[in-house]
Amino acid sequence: MHIDPNALLIAPSLLSADFSRLCEEIARVDRGGADIIHLDIMDGHFVPNITFGPPVVAKLRSCTDLPFDAHLMIENPDQFIRPFIDAGVDMISVHLETRGHLQRTLALIREGGAKAGVVLNPATTIEGLRYILDDIDYILIMSVNPGFGGQAFIPSTIGKLQDLSKMLTEAGRPIPIQLDGGVGPDNTGEVTRAGARILVAGSAIFGNPPYEEVMRRMREAAVIE
Ligand code: DX5
Ligand code: ZN
Repeated sequence: MHIDPNALLIAPSLLSADFSRLCEEIARVDRGGADIIHLDIMDGHFVPNITFGPPVVAKLRSCTDLPFDAHLMIENPDQFIRPFIDAGVDMISVHLETRGHLQRTLALIREGGAKAGVVLNPATTIEGLRYILDDIDYILIMSVNPGFGGQAFIPSTIGKLQDLSKMLTEAGRPIPIQLDGGVGPDNTGEVTRAGARILVAGSAIFGNPPYEEVMRRMREAAVIE
């Protein structure tokens, strides 16, 4: 898949979907205009919550043709790159805060044929990205502390998005910026103006049906020059 760094892409997060009807929920956001399906993978160690793993993802693969984006909130991502790629995931992001060798993990993801993303928690500075920009296909900025849906957007994220956009422009690397946490129609204007392009939204979409209506409002609110 190719990710246009300047296109607005909406990625509903299944974390807020009805877990007893995941396939239906995926089909509904697909029909409603979603671009990517965001999968929050939690291990109960890196974050204080547990979700689902490769076998569930493999089963969900038949529910849509949209790209699957796995956001790994797990302590040992290297061990799970291959299983998630085999399950049909197209994009995999790993946290900068994970112990290990990030550059090697990103290479593993690309060798598997998926897009490689790096995630930054709210307290993490963008400086750690500077020397690995060539290894990254997208950057995920967390606007809440990971682990749960429905949390409030952390306002300092706006300055961070602006700083990151500037760093990427100066480096001549137009890497798409994904944003995750407390995102919805009400702040889409502000976050897109600051540089966010792939918007992850869980509770804003699944908590406010009809889904197509929320996504339409997000597209209308986006400011992309
Ligand atoms: C949080 C997850 C998010 C979560 C966002 O750890 O990474 O993807 O689902 O949920 P909302 O959009 O409700 O803040
Ligand atoms: Zn996420």
